[in-house]
Amino acid sequence: MNLKTLEDMGDLSGKRVFVRVDFNVPLDDEGNVRDDKRIQHAVPTFKYLLEHGVSKIVLASHLGRPKNNEVNLQTDKVAAKLAELLGEPVTKADDWGEGGLTEDKIVMLENIRFHKAEKSKDEAERDAFGKQLASLADVFVNEAFSNSHRKHASMTSIPKFIPGCVGLGVEKEVGAIQKAISDPEHPLVAVIGGLKADKLKAIHNLLGSADRILVAGALATNLLKAKGHEIGTSKSDDEGMEEMADVAKEIIASDKVQLPTDFVVADDFSETANIKTVAADGIEPGWMALDIGPESAESFAKQISEAKTVLWFGPIGVFEMAPFATGTKLIGEAIANSEAVSIVGGGDSAGAVKKLGLEEEMTLVSTGGGASLEMIEGKELPALKVLQNNL
Ligand code: 3PG
Repeated sequence: MNLKTLEDMGDLSGKRVFVRVDFNVPLDDEGNVRDDKRIQHAVPTFKYLLEHGVSKIVLASHLGRPKNNEVNLQTDKVAAKLAELLGEPVTKADDWGEGGLTEDKIVMLENIRFHKAEKSKDEAERDAFGKQLASLADVFVNEAFSNSHRKHASMTSIPKFIPGCVGLGVEKEVGAIQKAISDPEHPLVAVIGGLKADKLKAIHNLLGSADRILVAGALATNLLKAKGHEIGTSKSDDEGMEEMADVAKEIIASDKVQLPTDFVVADDFSETANIKTVAADGIEPGWMALDIGPESAESFAKQISEAKTVLWFGPIGVFEMAPFATGTKLIGEAIANSEAVSIVGGGDSAGAVKKLGLEEEMTLVSTGGGASLEMIEGKELPALKVLQNNL
């Protein structure tokens, strides 16, 4: 992907820059930032811009999925967090026009999704808002990889009106994911878990480049069901599987794909349920698989230890409950201990890595679940595509 970087934008001194960030961060009940990783991630781009003498930085983010411009989704607290991390004042503007801008150098706009045109289905309406936002700056920077699969005004319309590039975080993240899927060091081992059948698209796309695809989570029981196995009361995405029936057949037939050979099953979705380990073809009616079993974990871990590149998307088991967390822990540790380039994507697996304290051991924990998965599926992200055809 040939994306313009900050360096490609030449002399930025005296320029006004619009930075689209993704500060859609978890908040506590009082609306305070609970995890500032996404904000931290954008700090180097702001430092770069300040060091290169820009005259103004206007930044915008969405926060949550607002319905009625809820007060707790205003951007004041994320703006304050950025100010704290950056060590520079950040003023909060209450709207998205020139009038809201103060004399201050760094101004954060109100939650961009409070404006109805941001997510409009009508491209002309989005573009009109994008044009208004573009009028606030000379240069556009996309520092919101995790929202780059969204065709929203502040992502895809602004760069139709002013020159645009990616920020340092997006450059690094896109580069790492792209290398892992198009020019990986082999063996490339992909570990794909989670529930939704649409992840099969990612597995399908990886059939070409990966040497081994280890499937876990409910996705594995979905595939076992498609093979005609009994999966008891294990979660399944029947509708999704029906839509993906042809792809599922191809995946099942591939000798690169490995399903678990045993599972930890329970008779209820609860930590206090009756629990036992059974062979993959031994799940009885009334029992549900909630983690991979020890034999599968050992086999997966061995293959991970021999890999040069590992992609991990989606949880292995229900790691939030202690009796079903072992598979996720062993796989996380195997990746952390391997020499491989490791990329972890998806909110749940990134959350698991954080909970296990393994973040520093991974090459990249992607800030974007949906966006990185779409890249793995081989899709073009609209907010990056527009930067390729940009002025
Ligand atoms: C995310 O958190 O994945 C991004 O910020 C996108 O948010 P959305 O799923 O609400 O569009």
